[in-house]
Amino acid sequence: MNRTTFTLLAATAALALGLWPLRAEEKAHKLTTVSTRKMADSLHAIIAADQQAYAEFVAKTKGSFAALPSHAQLLRQAAQSIQKKGAEFSYTLRSLTPINANNGPQTEGEQLGLAAVAKQPGEAYYTEEELGGRSYFTAVYAEHATISSCVECHNQHPGSPRRDWKPGDVMGAVVVRVPLEF
Ligand code: HEC
Repeated sequence: MNRTTFTLLAATAALALGLWPLRAEEKAHKLTTVSTRKMADSLHAIIAADQQAYAEFVAKTKGSFAALPSHAQLLRQAAQSIQKKGAEFSYTLRSLTPINANNGPQTEGEQLGLAAVAKQPGEAYYTEEELGGRSYFTAVYAEHATISSCVECHNQHPGSPRRDWKPGDVMGAVVVRVPLEF
């Protein structure tokens, strides 16, 4: 094997293993840069998956665990416990017609976001907010009635101001906030 062939072979092997210095640098760069939007989107993916899994689980067991907290309580409790541990992000469930009045919009950003995702559910609404002297990146994601129990439970709930929810409706939103200054 001549020297050139050897160098070529070694380079190919290094590339395949991801050991080529340039490639390694590129990778490191990609992994260390996460935009606030990516972060909010990723957090939302987890929150939405958990809420969906819980709703399906409860629907399958046909309410035989009556003492279980509602999906909204579960989300709130998890969000509060994350806050207590000092997380630099927060999330909450919101709606323009909530069962629990505390879940109504509490900032202008939330109000605009809820209206925006109700109109265009396929697109998240992104904005920046100034709250308590701190800047936040705020993302609002539509919450759909993905399974029939969403609308059945909400339409029957004594505290619900709305009783005509249909499967597929946007029932509200998950709001995720990431601070823009540390
Ligand atoms: C078994 C009953 C039940 C089911 C099923 C259920 N919810 Fe809820 N949901 C509630 C209750 C009760 C609250 C308010 C409770 C609270 O804040 O503690 C709530 C709150 C919400 C809120 C916040 C606004 C509000 O109404 O207070 C949204 C948005 C929401 N639910 C959407 C959904 C979606 C979407 C599904 C299905 C994937 C779903 N819910 C399934 C009972 C239910």
